[in-house]
Amino acid sequence: MAKHIGVIGGGVIGLSSSLLLRQAGYAVTIIAKDFPAPFETIDPITQINFTSPWGGAHNRWVPPHPSNPVSVREHPLSLTTFRHMKALFSTHPSTAGITFLKGIEYLESPGPEYVALTEARASSSEIGPLPGFRLLSPSEFPDSKITWGCEYDTWCVNPMVYCAFLLRRFVYQGGKLLKKELRSPAEVFSLLSEEKVDAVVNASGNGFGDDENMFITRGQTVLVAEECDATVTRQNADGSWTFSVPRGFEGGTIIGGTKEVNNWDVKPSEGTRERLLKTFGETYPKILGEKKELTVLRDIVGRRPTRKGGPRIEGKVLEGAGFVMHAYGLGGRGYELSWGVAEKVVEGIKGHLGEGAKL
Ligand SMILES: Cc1cc2nc3c(=O)[nH]c(=O)nc-3n(C[C@H](O)[C@H](O)[C@H](O)COP(=O)(O)OP(=O)(O)OC[C@H]3O[C@@H](n4cnc5c(N)ncnc54)[C@H](O)[C@@H]3O)c2cc1C
Ligand SMILES: *[C@@H]1O[C@H](CO)[C@@H](O)[C@H](O)[C@H]1NC(C)=O
Ligand SMILES: *[C@@H]1O[C@H](CO)[C@@H](O)[C@H](O)[C@H]1NC(C)=O
Repeated sequence: MAKHIGVIGGGVIGLSSSLLLRQAGYAVTIIAKDFPAPFETIDPITQINFTSPWGGAHNRWVPPHPSNPVSVREHPLSLTTFRHMKALFSTHPSTAGITFLKGIEYLESPGPEYVALTEARASSSEIGPLPGFRLLSPSEFPDSKITWGCEYDTWCVNPMVYCAFLLRRFVYQGGKLLKKELRSPAEVFSLLSEEKVDAVVNASGNGFGDDENMFITRGQTVLVAEECDATVTRQNADGSWTFSVPRGFEGGTIIGGTKEVNNWDVKPSEGTRERLLKTFGETYPKILGEKKELTVLRDIVGRRPTRKGGPRIEGKVLEGAGFVMHAYGLGGRGYELSWGVAEKVVEGIKGHLGEGAKL
């Protein structure tokens, strides 16, 4: 008999982890309050705490640098994710919701990690190779406020097309689902009476609210109908950002976005929308083509499940219940780091249950 894992969470982290656990031979049940659904039908108020629908989502490299220990821990996870995305795109180009395209960055006030990111370093095994990496020359900058720029090959996903694809793949490979709101991870051990649960994965995003290091980072973006040929990020000297994330698959383009710590406002701000559209249009006029204005489809507000000190990816025995592998607190990088986190989850479960766990 295969050992049975209960995964809490139907967001990008729970789904990726469940798929790899299934492929490692475990019996897997996902238990979640929210599952992927067509993005257009997801209610912005009642499902505000389910973060995955509200993501961009693009991969932007955050160069590892000693000044930022979290970046050093996270970078390998983003490289692992890149490899998985490439593989999924090559086998499922028209169904996975993944697009490969150029990433372009324009920074007004680059931190030390960017200043140190030369073409030689980007192609070294220390941090790369980052495919297609090239520093831009000042003549390629959109205006004189930009002091550093680069481009590279990267991926974007249409979040709910991608998440629904992961979910379908999981079920196709024999995974089971249970829609339910839990009071605690411990509940899962006694929930499925006919089937013993040997370990639990806690990929609940922002779910239980009892980790004092957790906080939310509000993000407001705007979805426009225009297509964009690249995922472009601009950092302003005041610390604010503007970016585009083409969603592909009839999903338009996300123009982002804000990063507001502990702001719980569910309503979009019109001022923010206008500022994002204006700055992005000036930075990358190509998106407008012949038009004067972008075609706004909807505003988006989401809550990134952020954690002081970085994500929690570790196993721990929960007294009186059993082994729980935690995988939450991915902040603004849940998609970017998803497959790296999922590999760590499988390692943690294997480490605890032993090799006998396989089918
Ligand atoms: C505006 C915005 C832009 C973003 N852009 C990007 C980007 O470009 N790239 C990127 O990598 N990331 C981006 N992110 C971040 C990314 O969306 C998140 O990191 C990611 O979605 C987190 O996934 P998760 O699976 O951890 O959590 P969630 O998606 O929130 O999933 C949590 C799951 O746990 C379930 N759950 C929680 N509590 C319970 C309970 N008590 N009982 C049962 N089930 C429960 C929920 O129902 C849900 O299924 C962005 C986020 C925002 C808001
Ligand atoms: C979202 O989470 C917060 C904090 O846990 C909670 O107060 C709020 O009721 C939740 N909102 C919804 C719509 O579930
Ligand atoms: C499970 O994850 C949530 C984050 O969603 C966290 O608040 C909680 O403390 C975790 N559970 C345990 C038992 O550690």
